[in-house]
Parts: sequence; structure tokens; C-alpha cells
Amino acid sequence: MATWNLEQTSCHLLICNGGSCKKRGAEDVTQAIRDEIARQEADRHIHTTRTLCNGRCTDACVVIAYPEGVWYRDITPERGREIVRNYLAGQRLDQHAVYTYDGRFVATGNGETGTEK
Ligand code: FES
Repeated sequence: MATWNLEQTSCHLLICNGGSCKKRGAEDVTQAIRDEIARQEADRHIHTTRTLCNGRCTDACVVIAYPEGVWYRDITPERGREIVRNYLAGQRLDQHAVYTYDGRFVATGNGETGTEK
């Protein structure tokens, strides 16, 4: 059991570990992201949580960054590491961002928008 002090946290990465994402390597993505956070000594700044399905299975593996509200698709372990490094450099992984947030979610054009509401 853990109780994190989040006062210095500026980014929360939700790493999908639902069934479709697990089939596409979510465990390796999770470990790579957490390893990169440790390598960058950014544990105080970036918090991670494994989630169940986020309803975007065609995008597996899905990683969501808050509070920016960026939904990433097709995340591999190396792309997960890039999300961490880019975040720390004040950038995002634009080519894999499928939604961004501007008062509501906005499709970037990098993926299907889906049909379910
Ligand atoms: S299992 Fe990851 S979005 Fe559905």
C-alpha cells in the first residue's frame, strides 16, 4: 500500500492495462515509462497509474497525460520513454496524440474519432 505526496506532481500518466492494451504490450509500456521516470529522477513530478480499459481499444496501447488532457495512441515502450522525456522538456509526443484538451477533447486527426458517444 502506498500513499504518495502529490504536492510536487505536475503530470499524471494513466497507462491503460485493459485487455486490448495488454495484448499489445501494456506491461512493457508500463515498466518502460516507470523506468524512464526513475532514470530522469522525476518521481516527484510524474505520477503513474495503471487503469482498466479507457474505451479507445483501436488506439492500444493507450496512455493519457493529465492535466494536459492528451490521449496518446500506439504507445510502445520506447514511445512511452519519449512521452516522459518530452514532458520534462515541455513538449508532447505530437505524432501519437489522438486527442488534446481545450475545454473539451479535440481530435488531432492522428486517429479514428470513433463512433460511440
Ligand atoms: S484496453 Fe486500453 S483502451 Fe481498451
